[in-house]
Amino acid sequence: MDDEIPENFFISEEYKEFTEDIGGIQQKFYALPAASTDYDLTGQVLWPGAKHLALYIRDHQELIKDKIILEVGSGSGLCGLFCSHYASKTILTDGNDIVMRLLDLNKSFGKNVEIAWVEWSDSDPGKDLRIKGLPERYEVVVGTDVVYWSNSIVPLFKTMDSLLEDRGRFIMCYTLRAMNTYRDLLRLSAECGYRNKVLWNEESTYIFEFDRQ
Ligand SMILES: C[S@@+](CC[C@H](N)C(=O)[O-])C[C@H]1O[C@@H](n2cnc3c(N)ncnc32)[C@H](O)[C@@H]1O
Repeated sequence: MDDEIPENFFISEEYKEFTEDIGGIQQKFYALPAASTDYDLTGQVLWPGAKHLALYIRDHQELIKDKIILEVGSGSGLCGLFCSHYASKTILTDGNDIVMRLLDLNKSFGKNVEIAWVEWSDSDPGKDLRIKGLPERYEVVVGTDVVYWSNSIVPLFKTMDSLLEDRGRFIMCYTLRAMNTYRDLLRLSAECGYRNKVLWNEESTYIFEFDRQ
C-alpha cells in the first residue's frame, strides 16, 4: 500500500465568494471559510484587521486618494481591494505562492489592481515589482494582521526600508493577541528607525502609522 501523504493533502483552494459591507460599500472577495492546514496559509482566510483598516480608510480617504498604494501580506486582499476604489492604482502583494493565486483571482474585484510577490526581507524584496515594471517606492504602504509572530517584525520593517519613499508611511492594523509581541513590535520597529503613532484604537485593535524618525 502506498502510504505517502500527497504533497497537497492539507491544502485547499476551494474558495467561496464573500461580500463584506464596509460602511455601506459592498466589497466582494474569495477566501476560505476557515483555516484548515498546518502550513503557513494564514492568508487564505480573512483576518479582522482587514475590515478595521478598510473602515478607517473609508472615513479617512485623504490618506490614499489618487495615490499608488501597495499592500504587504495581502492574504485575500480585502483591505487593498477596498483601497483600490480610492487609489489611482493598488498593488496587492504576498510572499506565499498559494496566496498569490488567490490574489490573482481576487484582483478583478478591485479597480486598477496588480499583484506582485513581495517576501519580507532585507535582500531585494522589490525584485518582482521591478520585473513587472511597477514602482519600487511608495508614499503609502498598508498592511493588516501582518504581525503575529515577533520574528516577522524586523524583516517587515527592513522591507519598509526598500518600499517606502523618504517621507513615506506604513499604515498597519495590528491585533493585540500577546503582550510580548506587542512590546516587540514597538521596540523592534523603533530599533529599525521607525517612529509610531496610534491613529485609532479600540480594545485589542490598533491602527498604527509608522514613518522614519
Ligand atoms: C494573518 S495573514 C493576514 C492576511 C490579510 N492581510 C488579512 O488581514 O486578512 C498574514 C499574511 O502575510 C503573509 N506573510 C507572512 N509572512 C510573510 C513574509 N515573510 N513575506 C511576505 N508575506 C508574508 C501571509 O502569506 C499572509 O497572507
